[in-house]
Amino acid sequence: MTEKPDVLIYAPWYEPAMERLDEIATTHHLYLADDKEAFLKEHGPKCIGIGTMHYCPPSLMDACPNLKIILNFGVGYDGVDIPAATNRGVKVVNTPDVLNDCVADMAMALVLAGRRKVPQADRYIREGNWTRLGNFEYVHHVNHSKVGIIGLGRIGLEIANRCAAFKMDIGYHQRNQRKDVPYKFFQNLEEMATNADILIAILPGGEKTKGLISENIIKLIGPEGLLVNVARGTVVDNEALARCLKDGSLGAAALDVFPNEPEVPDAFLDIKDNLILTPHMASATHFTRMEMGMTLYNNLQAFLKDGSVLTPVN
Ligand code: NAP
Ligand code: 8YV
Repeated sequence: MTEKPDVLIYAPWYEPAMERLDEIATTHHLYLADDKEAFLKEHGPKCIGIGTMHYCPPSLMDACPNLKIILNFGVGYDGVDIPAATNRGVKVVNTPDVLNDCVADMAMALVLAGRRKVPQADRYIREGNWTRLGNFEYVHHVNHSKVGIIGLGRIGLEIANRCAAFKMDIGYHQRNQRKDVPYKFFQNLEEMATNADILIAILPGGEKTKGLISENIIKLIGPEGLLVNVARGTVVDNEALARCLKDGSLGAAALDVFPNEPEVPDAFLDIKDNLILTPHMASATHFTRMEMGMTLYNNLQAFLKDGSVLTPVN
């Protein structure tokens, strides 16, 4: 039997899937090492693969001179330096499609929770306010409202299909108009934000989309509107967002992602009435995390067999 290849695990993913990976690779878990520099020096040179989630800088690739493949647990790869990998002849693979449904479900959970104020209503009961003050406040409806989706890609389309079931009026914004959907295309994000009750971000992160949802866009969504971000924290001007939530120029927000996870901007933590926070969990179901892990397993297996990969990024 041929020896198993060595793979450096920079960040671990779903444990049952990591166990499967051990069937075809010898994994070295950098994040567990006390002395990371010494660990990298010892194990880096023999590793042909790096396993990570969203992040792989050139310095990590440098520590693995025999690197051939980066396994990125996630569809988004904004923290993986793709040009640096490509220049080294390193293949990068990600986990598209298998998470579309769960991420779209979570986007809808945030739409519903944000519009119907579900967490706030739960707190209302627990704080004794129902008996003390009477019924909870009236809130905004979800059905028949106008939604604008930024990024009608694989996941965005699943969100749109769910919004259609809620009888919503659906628009989208991205660089290219799609010919295969009945939804209204907005070339101009300002126009879509002005028109929408609910804006949902589900586009890639990275330099090109940094701060796309600016203070101006946030204010155009308006005092009755909801912003849902399941994309990346970087796509929103989060300082402006906190200000607009506090002064009421934005109605509400529901955020699954933040610029410097797991840190969450302090400014968000004391906003309770109109802000819902979740810890980057849109794909975090047992089923989907296993599927994502097996996508990486299948890629590595194919690569070891004949050098091919199933879900290439570069
Ligand atoms: P995708 O199929 O590649 O779709 C991305 C969409 O974004 C495309 O339709 C693209 O259209 C649009 N887009 C790209 N750049 C844009 C820009 N500058 N302005 C406006 N639109 C732009 O990707 P996906 O699989 O749906 O995933 C989308 C993203 O969701 C991922 O990259 C990741 O960051 C995020 N995500 C988050 C979670 C979570 O747990 N919260 C889970 C999975 C994914 P054009 O090229 O026409 O612009
Ligand atoms: C993460 C995601 O992979 O796929 C993406 O881009 O953001 C998520 O599915 C997951 O949160 C692990 O970090």
